[in-house]
Amino acid sequence: MDAIQAPVIAVVGALIRETPGTISLGQGVVHYGPPTAAVDAVRAALGRHATHEYHEVAGLPALIDRITTKLRRENAIDVAAGSRIMVTAGANMAFMHAVMATTVPGDEVILPVPFYFNHEMAIEMAGCRAVRVPTDGRYQLRLDALDAAVTSRTRAIVTISPNNPSGAVLSEASLRAVNALCAERGLYHFSDEPYEYFTYGGAAHVSPGSFSDAAAHTVSMYSLSKAYGFAGWRIGYMVYPEHLAGAMLKSQDTILICPPIASQEGAIAALDVGRAYCDPFVRELAEVRGLVVRQLASLAPLADVPAADGAFYCLLRVHTPLDPMTICERLIREHQVAVIPGTAFGMTDGCYFRVAYGALQRDTVAEGIGRLVAGLRAIVKAPTQATSASAEAQP
Ligand SMILES: Cc1ncc(COP(=O)(O)O)c(C=O)c1O
Repeated sequence: MDAIQAPVIAVVGALIRETPGTISLGQGVVHYGPPTAAVDAVRAALGRHATHEYHEVAGLPALIDRITTKLRRENAIDVAAGSRIMVTAGANMAFMHAVMATTVPGDEVILPVPFYFNHEMAIEMAGCRAVRVPTDGRYQLRLDALDAAVTSRTRAIVTISPNNPSGAVLSEASLRAVNALCAERGLYHFSDEPYEYFTYGGAAHVSPGSFSDAAAHTVSMYSLSKAYGFAGWRIGYMVYPEHLAGAMLKSQDTILICPPIASQEGAIAALDVGRAYCDPFVRELAEVRGLVVRQLASLAPLADVPAADGAFYCLLRVHTPLDPMTICERLIREHQVAVIPGTAFGMTDGCYFRVAYGALQRDTVAEGIGRLVAGLRAIVKAPTQATSASAEAQP
């Protein structure tokens, strides 16, 4: 555990609490809560005795039915074709189960960089090695590099589209190529898709689990956390190859026993409301995204931000030799704005920051980006004022 990175959100969160008035462009959450029908369903569930008991390990049959229909209609995934569904306490738990079910200690899982930090942490906690593979200048997959990274110990390749932290929507061609590479080399394709509804402009999300012959080696992971403002209720789910059922159920039974019943009742109601709930928020986010991209573009040539057509993030590249954690700390203390250093996502070569714009109202985001732009200009022009994060943390 000591070798595993500390969750960066908590570290930045502590700095924010020490600096009142800070606008956080840090955490990747949405600003809205669940549909009223979901809250009502939870309230009703609390009055039923069954809510307080253990239920099916894989999730309530009524919820699995809804998910089956949703996967068929929206993701073109037919669960009848050799797959199973498991409801989990969020997509994070689905990922942990997938790693536990497919690896033994010493195995390797390939993570395109930038990656989602909890993926690397889960792989390392399972005693495996996260193999970092670079992407291109637009954070798109590099097939040649992925292919070259496969060894006899590789068990899976992970893709996230739309991506956290870059916001990139991965091209369908590249996802098809990864899925085919996995089939050819006997690997699993772990496809994490919690931002499936969050795409802008002409960008379209595609589920690798829908590709022909994908069912036997693809684990697709989803979440209600973002789409339905459900983060605290901890509901996600995965569709995975039938032959992993024994291992997946053992992992779930050991860690969770069953997903929380009240949350599942809320999830049933949320899925009945459906994707239409999320659509207006995504339209709103599209406008906020436009504003973020325009304001950040004014940082050129000091910094640039490759196109990000999905999720609610962009990954800003700042052309400076300064350490990103030091800049992050100074942005909070001196300019009251927080972003997450790219090092947390494996961007160790250069100075990157993830900017998250899902959690705040438009005007607050505009104010926050204004502070970020002014702060970066001031700090990068006057690097001698830098105070080391570690020095400040000493008692
Ligand atoms: C790529 C990715 N996967 C998984 C998660 C975790 O989602 P959940 O709340 O469903 O565990 C997040 C949350 O930010 C994420 O960005």
